[in-house]
Formats: sequence, structure tokens, C-alpha cells
Amino acid sequence: MRLIKELLVALVIASLLEGWWSCDGCLENERNALLQLKASFNDPERMSLSSWGLYTDDCCKWENIHCSSTTGRVSKLSIWSDIWGFTEWCFNASLFLPFQELTILSLRHNHIIDCVENEGFERLARLNNLEFLDLKDNSYNNKSIVSSIGHLSSLKSLNLASNGLVNITDIQGLSRLENLEYLDLSSNNFNNSIVPFLSVFSLLKSLNLSYNKLESAIDIQELDALGNLEELRLGGNQITKVVASRDIRISRNLSSLLDYNTAMDRSIQLELLGAYPFLKTLSLQHNNFKGAIFAQETGNLTSVQELYLDYSSFDEESFKSLGALPSLKLLSMFALDASLPQGLPNFKFLEYLDLRASALPDNFLKGMEKLPSLKTLLLSYCRLSGTIPAAKGLCELIHLQEIDISYNNLSGKLPSCLANLTSLQRLDLSSNHFTGDISLSPLRTLTSLHILQLSSNLFQIPISLLPFFNHSKLKFLYCYGNEIYADIDMPNLTPKFQLEYLDFSGQGDGGVFPKFLYYQHKLQYVDMSNIKMKGEFPYWLIGNNSKLDTLSLANCSLSGPLHWPIHSHVYISHLDLFSNYFNGSIPTEIGVSFPNLDSLYLSRNGLIGGIPSSIGKMSLLRVLELSNNRLSGIIPQDLTVGCISLSNLILSNNNLQGQIFPKHADFKELKLLWLDGNQFTGSIPYGIVNCTGLQILDVSDNHLSGSIPGWIRNLTSLEVMDLSQNNFSGNLPSNFGPQWIREVYLSKNRLQGALTNAFCNCSELMILDLRHNYFTGRVPEWIDKFSELSYLLLGYNNLEGEIPIQLCNLRQLSLVDLSNNNLSGHILSCISAASNWQKRVASYGYPGTYMKQPLEFTTREYRIISKEAFSS
Ligand SMILES: *[C@@H]1O[C@H](CO)[C@@H](O)[C@H](O)[C@H]1NC(C)=O
Ligand SMILES: *[C@@H]1O[C@H](CO)[C@@H](O)[C@H](O)[C@H]1NC(C)=O
Ligand SMILES: *[C@@H]1O[C@H](CO)[C@@H](O)[C@H](O)[C@H]1NC(C)=O
Ligand SMILES: *[C@@H]1O[C@H](CO)[C@@H](O)[C@H](O)[C@H]1NC(C)=O
Ligand SMILES: *[C@@H]1O[C@H](CO)[C@@H](O)[C@H](O)[C@H]1NC(C)=O
Ligand SMILES: *[C@@H]1O[C@H](CO)[C@@H](O)[C@H](O)[C@H]1NC(C)=O
Ligand SMILES: *[C@@H]1O[C@H](CO)[C@@H](O)[C@H](O)[C@H]1NC(C)=O
Ligand SMILES: *[C@@H]1O[C@H](CO)[C@@H](O)[C@H](O)[C@H]1NC(C)=O
Ligand SMILES: *[C@@H]1O[C@H](CO)[C@@H](O)[C@H](O)[C@H]1NC(C)=O
Ligand SMILES: *[C@@H]1O[C@H](CO)[C@@H](O)[C@H](O)[C@H]1NC(C)=O
Repeated sequence: MRLIKELLVALVIASLLEGWWSCDGCLENERNALLQLKASFNDPERMSLSSWGLYTDDCCKWENIHCSSTTGRVSKLSIWSDIWGFTEWCFNASLFLPFQELTILSLRHNHIIDCVENEGFERLARLNNLEFLDLKDNSYNNKSIVSSIGHLSSLKSLNLASNGLVNITDIQGLSRLENLEYLDLSSNNFNNSIVPFLSVFSLLKSLNLSYNKLESAIDIQELDALGNLEELRLGGNQITKVVASRDIRISRNLSSLLDYNTAMDRSIQLELLGAYPFLKTLSLQHNNFKGAIFAQETGNLTSVQELYLDYSSFDEESFKSLGALPSLKLLSMFALDASLPQGLPNFKFLEYLDLRASALPDNFLKGMEKLPSLKTLLLSYCRLSGTIPAAKGLCELIHLQEIDISYNNLSGKLPSCLANLTSLQRLDLSSNHFTGDISLSPLRTLTSLHILQLSSNLFQIPISLLPFFNHSKLKFLYCYGNEIYADIDMPNLTPKFQLEYLDFSGQGDGGVFPKFLYYQHKLQYVDMSNIKMKGEFPYWLIGNNSKLDTLSLANCSLSGPLHWPIHSHVYISHLDLFSNYFNGSIPTEIGVSFPNLDSLYLSRNGLIGGIPSSIGKMSLLRVLELSNNRLSGIIPQDLTVGCISLSNLILSNNNLQGQIFPKHADFKELKLLWLDGNQFTGSIPYGIVNCTGLQILDVSDNHLSGSIPGWIRNLTSLEVMDLSQNNFSGNLPSNFGPQWIREVYLSKNRLQGALTNAFCNCSELMILDLRHNYFTGRVPEWIDKFSELSYLLLGYNNLEGEIPIQLCNLRQLSLVDLSNNNLSGHILSCISAASNWQKRVASYGYPGTYMKQPLEFTTREYRIISKEAFSS
């Protein structure tokens, strides 16, 4: 019986609840009110509203609306305008009254006009729960509407930033907001007379007055009534002095931000002891200090623990005055502009020091014992040179947990005293000139390290990583750009670390593939490129580390066949095996094994066989490089299925041949699309037409045949096309070439016909190489449309007629090859006289381009013009 009763009660409650906030999740009257609100805007299609009512009736799921999880009523509503130069909005407070539980209302970036009588903000006073009102970035036709906000006595937070306010009379009404804790009046035009007015908000915790017209001296005593103030932002004004006409009682832990207050030639001075007896955090970034910052006659300011002085400049006196803050725990002076002959003042309690990107004196690391409590030291990009001092200084800071001295000019061996820094968790020494064998270095004993960055130095690192076997916490090891050497294998030792990130690419001979990798199971990133190692492809790395994302073994002299565990490895996105001695064929299931691959580099190996069509299953593939192997057969049609993300397709220098592309017959419907009367005989795969992201297409040096189709211009992203050294034949289609193409290499094919209309639309073309074909007719007169053209290589064709004078309009042209044609007439004077051309002639490739083969021209031969044509 009791059970039934309980069940009944539960059912009644459930049905009550359902009816109350309707089965759609939001109250019907609130939904209607929202739609009415939407209709009240002149631009209901604005982004923040357009989806309202479109997909669901549950208004709680509409954009920018949040409902209470207990009552299901709208509790948060945000309507901002995304249209610059916003349209006006007639404010009608009644539209909001249905939302009785509204707590947060944001009307940012609107253009509120007061046009409905008796419908100002005061009507919202009926919303008893309204605590947050955000009106940032508004403008009003009549600013007195702002004062009506003063009736919303429940407000705790009010944002009136960027409201074009200037006159205190406009905000006088706000003085009734007794519960206000957060007030943002930044980016208005208030002057100093705003300060005494603010003392009415006695519960205020945070006050933002940045970017107003405050100037000269600010008397903090005027804010004395704000006993709870924790954050005071005064940045971006023209304040030169902060004073207190008598001692005040503003709360402990106040933070004050006075960034960007440099008033041209004056600088800011703070009478802090009087002004902020309990100041904890002080930010004075982007200032330009001259003379003492702190009026020291008022004594030392022991409350200040955090000081931010980033992007500031100092003279000697201003710098010395930092000594008035003896309790500092954090000092941030990023991009400090000052010379520090005396070093820093004594900061006995300093734990965090950031001086990155500051020009420090070389002896800086010696004078560090003045900072005995330091835990974090950030000194990258500080132009430090010399060595790390062997005894005094850095080594004495035994509490250090983090050191970053990367990107300096430091050199020499690491001093053994570094071993004293046993708390060190992160050490970044990268991009210096440090030397020495890591197995003899103090790093061996720093077993607390999590992150060790040694990249780009002159260290010798044993490939076994034996010196770090006791570093059980080591997860990130960056070693690239050092010398790796082979050491003796210790078969009985296993490392205590489980690395996640290993950048080991360097130079040197590592002997054999290192054993410590057998014991790793959490690797995500492994780069060992450029280390010579004997061994086969470490397929077990892929099997053992299920989260592996990147495996780079480029240029490692590994050999043998490629194989790996067949099942799918969804995390792998980057596989780089460029330039090894791998042989055999590419596993046919490669696309199944690595379905999410982003880039695959297998160029410069000894791979044979065909290109597996399963590569087409890699729908995210961006880069496919298989050049310089001995691959044969056709380019499978499947390769281009879903190739929308493919950007680099590099298949050059293989034995790919025949109908690498499907026959015309397979695509009968193409006849409809075939433009410009091409003689199409087996060609680039029609599928490529869908690879619209393709930027580089290089199939040079194969045995590919067929003609070049007109739709190649549909590859609108194509910048480089290299089809040279194949058997492509037929005419070039008219208007050939995607619009943004920069480099076209078609040399050594069997292309023919006139150039009359080809390439017309490619205004970015820099390199055009058509040498060694059978092109006939004249050099087109429109050649000067290619205003960026630098290399025009037309040698070894059957071109005839005169060289068009338009060639002289090509200002960027630096190399012209018209040799071995049937051209006639005179050498253009601009060519023969163009001494300035000669300066730009490059004998090797063209910097910044894809050009692979060096061009064997010397400056004297920059115009290799057909001897027959011009001998007369
Ligand atoms: C203001 O909104 C209320 C509620 O939707 C509506 O009844 C009233 O007509 C509106 N007033 C004007 C002048 O649009
Ligand atoms: C602005 O509004 C106030 C109060 O509603 C009114 O007294 C004043 O005349 C208005 N000013 C203008 C310029 O419309
Ligand atoms: C400020 O506004 C009041 C009331 O609108 C007006 O009387 C006064 O002239 C204004 N002051 C200035 C400086 O604009
Ligand atoms: C501050 O601005 C008000 C009006 O905006 C003006 O009347 C007053 O003179 C100004 N005070 C100072 C100190 O500039
Ligand atoms: C204070 O105002 C500035 C300028 O509008 C703004 O960038 C900053 O985010 C504001 N800070 C806080 C904490 O509201
Ligand atoms: C001030 O900060 C200290 C430490 O950060 C904290 O324990 C204390 O509660 C804070 N006092 C106030 C009034 O916020
Ligand atoms: C302020 O602190 C510095 C450094 O601790 C000390 O040398 C100086 O005597 C102190 N000054 C006063 C007035 O306490
Ligand atoms: C630091 O190391 C040096 C030599 O490595 C040693 O002589 C010295 O006692 C150590 N200092 C501390 C504080 O451990
Ligand atoms: C190109 O993409 C379209 C649309 O996704 C598809 O229908 C068509 O079959 C694709 N063509 C080729 C040749 O893959
Ligand atoms: C190439 O693009 C044109 C214009 O966008 C389109 O009409 C034509 O069908 C495309 N050709 C192919 C083969 O997709």
C-alpha cells in the first residue's frame, strides 16, 4: 500500500513538473517571450538570434540561452549584435519581464535607444534574481537611460565599458546599487572627478577604470570606503602619481593594475605605503620609468608579493627603487629595457622570475645567490654568453624547479655543481653552444626532471640514453640538433622512464637501433631522423605504443622490408621514412593500418611494386611523397577518392607508367565536360579533379602518357605542377592552368601545337618550363600578362616567327631560354642591353621555388637564343 502511495506521489510530481516546464524543456510563455524579443529587433537574422525557434521548440537549447537545471526556467540570456555599425534597438523592458528567474543578462554591442515611454531599465527591478548585467559596447540616444539601471538593486556585477560615458550626471543614478561587487567603467571618457563618486559602492571588490581620461595624481584615499576592493585597474590612463592624502584601509590582497600609464615624458610614481598598505599584486606593464617608482621615504612596502613590469623601460634610479619591495615572490619583467650593472636587488623570498627577452649582462648568472628562494627562472632570449658559473650563482639556487635559459649564446660544459639542483623538473638549455658528453654531465643525477630540452647545442648524446635510465619522471626529451653516438649496449639494464615525447633527430652514427625503445609504451612522438643506424623498420614501436602520433625515421639508413601490425592505428598521423634503404613493396593494407594519416613520406628508398589503392582510404591525407623509388604500374584511381585534403602529391622519379589514369572509356559522361576539343588519350586521372586542395602535383620522371585535360584549371589551389620527363602528348588546352599557379614544368614530353591560348589566366606565374617538346607557332604576344614571370624556358621546340616585343615588359624576367627553335628576326634590344637582368640570373634553381634541377646557365649565357635565328 505504502509503495503504491509513493508511486502515486512520484507520478503526480512528475506530471506536475512536466506540465510546468512543458515537455519541450522550456516554459511556453518564456519561449513566446523569446520569440517576441527576437521580433523586436530590426535585424532578427543577427547571428545570436537567427537559430532561435528554428530547430527545436526547447528554448533551453537555443543559442545563448541557459536554463536553470532545477526549475527549467531561463536564467541566462545573452543577445549581442555581430553587425558592425549596428542597427538601433528600441529598448522595451516589458519584453524581459517574463523571465522571472533571470540571473545573467548580456546585451553587449547593441545600439540601445530609449523610445518607449516608461520602459527604461528601472522596470527590470521586478527581476529579483538579476545579478549580472553586461552592457559593454553600447551607445544610447539618450545617456540618461543609464541612470535608470540604478533601480536594479539586486545587481552584483555591472559592465558599462565602452559606453561613451563622460558626464558623471549620467551615472549618478547608479549610486543606489548597494550590492555591486564588480564594476567595469573602462574605455569611457571619465576624468578624475569620477573617483570620489565611486566611494558609494561600499561592497565593490573589482573596479575597472582603465582607458579613461584619468590624469596626473590620483588620490586613493578617495576610495577608502571600498574596504573590500581586491582589484583596481587604472591602466591606459595618464596617471603620473598615486598618492593617499592619509592612510587608508582598503582590503588586504589588493591588486592594482597601472599598465600603459606613460605620459610622454613623465613617469609614474607611487606613494605606496600610504596609498596601498595591503597591496599584494601590482602591475605596471608597458610603462617608461624615470626616477624612483616608489617614494621610498615612506618606507618599504612589505605587502607586495607580485610585481608585473613587462615591456617597461627603466633608468638606474627607477630600477633601484624596486628594492622597496622586499617581500616579492613573483617578478615578471619580460622584455625589460634597462642595463643592470648591479644585477637585481636582494629578493630573499622571490620564487618566480621572468626576464625573457631582456638584454642581460653576461655576469647575470653569477649574481644569482641574492635570490635564494627561486623556484622558476625564465631567461630565454637574453643574449647571455660565456659559461654557467662553476660554483657561485645559479648552482646555489637549490630550490629551483624550472630553468629556461634557451636561445642564448652560452657555451662550455655544464658545471658539475648543477647536480645540486635536485628539485629541478624542467630544464631548457636549447639553442645555445653547450658542449660535452651527456654521460659525464651533471644531468645524470637530476632524476626529478620531467622535461629536458637540450636541442640545438653541441652535446654528445649516447644513443642508448643510459645516463637517464634512473630518471623515472622523464616524459619529454628534446635532443634534436646534437651529436648522437653509439655506445656500449647494457643488455641487463632497463630504463625507469616512460617517455611520451622524444625528439632525438640529430647527426652521427648511432650504431644499431636503440634498445631502450623496446620498453616504451606511452610514446606519442618519436623523431630519430638523420641518425645513422643499422636495423629494420621498428614495427614493434607502432604495436607497443598505442597513442603514437608521429614517427620520423628519415635518413636513418634503416633497411629491409616495410611491415607493421595489420590492425588499425588510429592515432598515427605522421609517418616519415624518407631516404632509407627500405625495399620490397608498400604493404597493400597501409590505408587500413593508418586510416588517419596526415602525411606519408616514403621518398628515396628502394621500394618496388605498385602504389596500394588502400591509400585512398586515408581521408585526412595531406602529403603523399613516394618519389625516387622504383614503383611501377598505374596510379590507382582509388587514390583520389575523398582526396579533398590532399595538398602535396609527389610521385616523381619512379617507373609509373601506362594508363596510370583511367581510360577515357571509363568516363563516357566526360564527353560533356570535355572542353576545348582535346585529343584525350589516357590522361591524368579524372578523380584528381576532386582533389581541389592540391597545391603541389609532381609526377615528373615517370612514363606517364595521355594529354593534359582542360579541367586541370579546376584544381584551384594548385601552385606547382611538374609533369616533366614523361610521355604526355597532345596540345595544351586553352586557358590552361589554375589561376594561382606559380610554377609549371612540362619539359621533356611530347607536347605539341601552338601556345596561342594556353595559360591566359595565370597572373602569378613565375616559372614556365616547356623545353624539349614539339611546340610550334609563335611566342604569344600576350606573354607580358605574366607580370611575375622570372624564368621563361622554351628551348628545344619548333617555335617560329619573331620574338614579341612584349617580352620587354616583363620586369621580373631574369632567365630566357629560346635556344634551338626556328625563331627569326632581331634580338630584342631589351634582351641584349639588359644588363640588370644578368644580376638576377641564378645558376642553380630559383630560390624559394620548387625547381629541382640546377639550371646550368652562367650569367653570360642568360639568353641562350637560337644561333641559327640570330646569327645574321
Ligand atoms: C513593449 O513590450 C510589451 C510586451 O511585449 C508589449 O505589450 C508592448 O506593446 C511593447 N511596447 C511598445 C511600445 O512596443
Ligand atoms: C533624455 O531622457 C531624460 C529622462 O527621460 C529626459 O529628461 C531628457 O529630456 C532626454 N534628453 C534628450 C536629449 O532626449
Ligand atoms: C552633464 O549633464 C548634465 C545633465 O544632463 C548637464 O547639465 C551638464 O551640463 C553636463 N556637463 C557637461 C560638462 O557636459
Ligand atoms: C571633468 O569633467 C567634467 C565634465 O565632464 C568637467 O566639468 C570637469 O571640469 C572635469 N574635471 C577635471 C578635473 O578636468
Ligand atoms: C578592464 O578593462 C579593459 C579595457 O576595457 C579590459 O581589456 C579588461 O579585460 C577589463 N578587465 C576586467 C578584469 O574586467
Ligand atoms: C589574501 O591572500 C591570502 C593568500 O593568498 C589568503 O590566504 C587570504 O585569505 C586572502 N585574504 C583576503 C582578505 O582575501
Ligand atoms: C627596505 O628594504 C631594503 C632591502 O631589504 C633595506 O635595505 C632597507 O633598509 C629597507 N628600508 C626601510 C626604510 O625599511
Ligand atoms: C654543490 O656542488 C658542489 C660540487 O658539485 C659541492 O662541493 C657543494 O657542496 C654543493 N653545494 C650544496 C649546497 O649542495
Ligand atoms: C568527385 O566527387 C563527387 C562528389 O563527391 C563524386 O560524386 C564523384 O564520383 C567524384 N569523382 C571521382 C572521379 O572520384
Ligand atoms: C570545372 O569547373 C567548372 C566551373 O566551376 C565546372 O563547370 C566543371 O564542371 C568542372 N569540371 C569538372 C571536370 O569537374
